[in-house]
Amino acid sequence: MADESWTGGYVVDVEYTHGYYPDLAPLNLAMAASLAGRKVLDPDQPFTYLELGCGNGFSSALLAAANPQGQFWANDFNPAHIANARATAQAASIDNVIFLEASFEELAETEMPDFDIIALHGIWSWVSPENRHYIIELIRRRLKAGGLVFISYNCLPGWSRVAPLRRLLKLGVTNMAAPAEARVEQAFSYARAMRDAGAGFFTGAPHVGAILDHLAKQDRAYLAHEYLNDQWGLFYQDEVADALLPAKLSFLASARLMDGFDQFNLTPGQQAMLNLPGAPSASQVVRDFLLDRRFRRDLYGRRVPGLASTDISAWFARRRFALARPRSNCPLKFKAPGGEFDLTPKVFDAVLDALVDGPEILEALSSRSGLVALERRHLEQAVGVLCALDYVHPALSSDGDARRRVATDRFNHAALRSALAGRPVAALASPVTGCGVPLPPSEQVFLAAIVNGQAPEAMVQGLAPGTGSEQAEMRQRALRFQQEELPVLKSLQVV
Ligand SMILES: C[S@@+](CC[C@H](N)C(=O)[O-])C[C@H]1O[C@@H](n2cnc3c(N)ncnc32)[C@H](O)[C@@H]1O
Repeated sequence: MADESWTGGYVVDVEYTHGYYPDLAPLNLAMAASLAGRKVLDPDQPFTYLELGCGNGFSSALLAAANPQGQFWANDFNPAHIANARATAQAASIDNVIFLEASFEELAETEMPDFDIIALHGIWSWVSPENRHYIIELIRRRLKAGGLVFISYNCLPGWSRVAPLRRLLKLGVTNMAAPAEARVEQAFSYARAMRDAGAGFFTGAPHVGAILDHLAKQDRAYLAHEYLNDQWGLFYQDEVADALLPAKLSFLASARLMDGFDQFNLTPGQQAMLNLPGAPSASQVVRDFLLDRRFRRDLYGRRVPGLASTDISAWFARRRFALARPRSNCPLKFKAPGGEFDLTPKVFDAVLDALVDGPEILEALSSRSGLVALERRHLEQAVGVLCALDYVHPALSSDGDARRRVATDRFNHAALRSALAGRPVAALASPVTGCGVPLPPSEQVFLAAIVNGQAPEAMVQGLAPGTGSEQAEMRQRALRFQQEELPVLKSLQVV
């Protein structure tokens, strides 16, 4: 029998998914920190980046391609994951990322530089207290002063009423020796049988049954890694902040820009709870109670200096911004946890229309017709909201576009070859934003056709071999892709 003592109870017999996580992009982290009033690295300048527990390494490989000015390192203890990560980097000849097959404990002994950014996505809740200790120690030793840490985890109170479902799933696994996919099947059929038998746990919390059905549709590998490990920790935000104190970290902001806008996330009554006399208004835990939040993506820093409001303005003024989706798909009416909102067309349409022509520096945007009369701080606010909505992305300096594009072209060609071979990727790389651009599998095939000098319609037959109506729908998609998405991909220099 294989020696699995190295796993620490973490699932290793099935490979994790090949996801791309936009939160991890250096420019996204720098923007979140700048909006929170902190002076951090300039992602246009050389930097060092470490991803802890990188899985199959797709995010690190893509970010390395889109940021050749950065030196990326990433580790995972699963040999299959690191072999996949190295293959992704090799297929695109990316030479500024080093994938290490090493545990968090072993990484302490590895010769590495100090880092400007250390990121850990999907790790903290799923590893043992001992491993969390190794991670804290690594950050303590390896993060530069002024450096950033991105960390995500399952949090409380959002999980409190659902958490026993995970215990039930684990109870259902009777044959631990079965392959991971079979263990997932055992876990879910047992939980469903409990629900169908009218178990009090489900009748007492009816929404948990719907959550069970929703989960059961997800990727089996994801479910095994998410729910069948020995460890599954839930934390309040301030518990994580306390745990990270020995690494000399302090909380800066949520890495999700939208989380910084209380006016969209909370109803007026909820916002009033932040302003009660003597209330801990800055507290993230209070917000987590108000939102019943289950997952956090947070940004921490070590001795990160503050920015005066004039410096935040200066940060914005020099920054380039790009439209991140078709102009027709940027509705000014939107729903958020705090209610339904309608953005002022005079300002927001003017910004979005201006960006249709291509990425632009905020300074230049402010002289566009329709925006000249707007006070600078209102323009900054509008651009911040559009970034939070994911309609617009901050972009790197245009000086580096050509250099970055050499690497992103290699990455994207390899990705499209993979898509044509039936293995679509999670995202393509943009040299303009230095981050990923998610694209559905069929659209990747359309794009591959265009790059190979064919019309996207040529791929319809292969993508929808079924009935006439499926083909008609696919033809519609090909047309929409050419008319709406392709111009955005061109402006982001993905193609
Ligand atoms: C839930 S996955 C997340 C992977 C990746 N960060 C992502 O978001 O796609 C957790 C990863 O941590 C790795 N891992 C778990 N324990 C580890 C350890 N002690 N040392 C290094 N990697 C570990 C697993 O192999 C797995 O790839």
